[in-house]
Amino acid sequence: MEEDSLFAEEKERSLSEAENLRRTIRHHEYLYYVLDAPAISDGEYDKLVRRLREIEAAYPEAVPADSPTRRVGGEAAGLFSPVTHLTPLLSLSNAYSAGELRAFDKRVREALPPGSKVEYVMEPKIDGLACSLLYEKGRLVRAATRGDGTTGEDVTANVRTIKAVPLVLRLPEAEVPQLLDVRGEVYMPRAAFVRLNEARVEAGEAEFANPRNAAAGSLRQLDSSVTAGRSLSFFAYYIGDGAGSFDLHSDNLAFLQKAGFKVSENYQVVPGIEEAIAYIENFDKVRPGLSYDTDGAVLKVNSVPQQRRLGATGKDPRWAIAYKYPPEQAETILEDIVWRTGRTGVLTPTGVLAPVRLSGSVISRATLHNIDFIRGKGIKLGDRVVINKAAEIIPEVLFVVESARTGEEKEVAIPTQCPDCGGPVVRKEGEAALRCTNPHCPALGREGLIHFASREAMNIEGCGPSLLAQLQEKGLVKDAADLYALTEEEAANLERMGEKSGAKLIKAIAASKEAGLDRLLFALGIRHVGAKAARTLAETFGSLKALQQADEKELAAVSDIGPKIAQSILTYFSVPGNQRLLEKLEAAGVKTVWDKKSVGKAQPLAGKTFVFTGTLPTLGRSEAQALALGAGAKCSSSVSKKTDYVVAGEEAGSKLAKAHALGVAVIDEAAFLKMLAEK
Ligand code: IVH
Repeated sequence: MEEDSLFAEEKERSLSEAENLRRTIRHHEYLYYVLDAPAISDGEYDKLVRRLREIEAAYPEAVPADSPTRRVGGEAAGLFSPVTHLTPLLSLSNAYSAGELRAFDKRVREALPPGSKVEYVMEPKIDGLACSLLYEKGRLVRAATRGDGTTGEDVTANVRTIKAVPLVLRLPEAEVPQLLDVRGEVYMPRAAFVRLNEARVEAGEAEFANPRNAAAGSLRQLDSSVTAGRSLSFFAYYIGDGAGSFDLHSDNLAFLQKAGFKVSENYQVVPGIEEAIAYIENFDKVRPGLSYDTDGAVLKVNSVPQQRRLGATGKDPRWAIAYKYPPEQAETILEDIVWRTGRTGVLTPTGVLAPVRLSGSVISRATLHNIDFIRGKGIKLGDRVVINKAAEIIPEVLFVVESARTGEEKEVAIPTQCPDCGGPVVRKEGEAALRCTNPHCPALGREGLIHFASREAMNIEGCGPSLLAQLQEKGLVKDAADLYALTEEEAANLERMGEKSGAKLIKAIAASKEAGLDRLLFALGIRHVGAKAARTLAETFGSLKALQQADEKELAAVSDIGPKIAQSILTYFSVPGNQRLLEKLEAAGVKTVWDKKSVGKAQPLAGKTFVFTGTLPTLGRSEAQALALGAGAKCSSSVSKKTDYVVAGEEAGSKLAKAHALGVAVIDEAAFLKMLAEK
């Protein structure tokens, strides 16, 4: 009896702790995913979630469906089944010039009583997929794609995994509407898109052409845990007819914000069409610096009664229009294609272009992704091609100007031999990637070494690709561990080196022994193990030995380590050559245990937020960001009052201007590197 009541007491205590944890976790998810202003570290957040999972495992019968632990793996039964929208999801008609916008304004005013004042709300047009999210009594009950506007597809299980979508509205009890139909855009942030495509190249999978396709592909996954790993986000921009609707669209947006949704920070109420046109001109300068793709701006009549009066024609409202910016494109000739074998053996094609100016820089190379991409676009050597900048960073071939063909163009041949070793190249079924099958291909070693010594990995200063190539040619270095056996004399005798630079290199190599287990694990180049996974593994297992001894179950139990990564780690450690390399590294004195203290020391930028803009003299954008992140900083793609430093290079544009306007410190690459080096 006594035991029973003890048990009941314990249960009550646990359940109330769980409810508190849910509230706390929801709040931190809101700070992180909606406001982009986290208040605690990822580790602290994980700890809260772990504790909640622990309690929920003990009392599974008492887990509510909207617990933050239930984002993935909920009811997926109705996935993709047809859903009839409460009111149709309208589309927008398009305008491409100021003249068309003025004509729209004229139509609007003519349809309203004479003398009506018409205010517009200006919003970014987010390049993603329209979705309707239905909340009953404040709880998300259904999410659906637009479909044909009347009937869409049920994507509830997948939308639940998007952390910027509240499962429960953040409203006081009294303000929770019976029913709320939130319309908005599911999109993939640019950084997530770049990361996803990098991982897909590694895995030999076809890349997504742009963030919108990536978002669409991610939302259409049958397994919602895949969607959960895709870092999708959501912007709310409209309340479907019904409860929760105010008389001004701008008040609806404010309400959505209050209810816990992300609403674009760039919306603005303007008094008339001329100000709307000014907004559009200005927004064109702002949008390259945003963390997400936009393809235009949307004008909406602010007064909801006016909207009702205006109504809709077919599938477009008469009270709103989308202005579409001309895409940034350039035309040039594809002169050649070079194939390069990466450190995983995958061959990637790069297009060599006749140099052309695009978005303020001269472009002479474009990514062609893989052979499917080349074939899909019908690309031939010598073709006139139109290129653009995908996600602002990598130029990409959009299409071939077929009308410019002369007949001299040549088919692109699939390489049958590795450009590095001449070894046979294969293409696994279902994979877009071509791979060199030679396990001893010098490209693997060369690229692997470059990766090992790189700033993001062991950070060996002065140990770049050309120096490493020399060391390999001379037979001084065959694998990464050989670096630690180099002598000052050997280093001094290399081309373009001398006594002083030789000594400096050896010192840098020796210093890298202390880089830490996380960097070492990343440096090994284990497939699918990026910097973040390496850090998690180092933190979780504490030593290389412990990690080597972990079995599949133990690996897969680590949060963020999926079965693919787990399998890849096991495979890596099972290769005798890799085991020998690790033994050699350990014998050379490379640190193989996780030392928390070293983390503090290696984080000179902790707590600071950086924005990178323009072309830096030596660092690529993602390289600079990786360095900043590695030093404990946060990176953002847009400048705000919360930004501590803007690192500006050549051709820096609107972000630099915004930094000056807000009084944010602007530094150059040299100053940034100096800050990194400070302990
Ligand atoms: S309003 C009645 N606002 O653009 C409301 N749409 O080309 C109609 N879109 O289907 C939509 N950003 O997927 C609206 N701020 C925004 C938007 C936006 C992106 C998309 C939406 C729509 C498409 C029309």
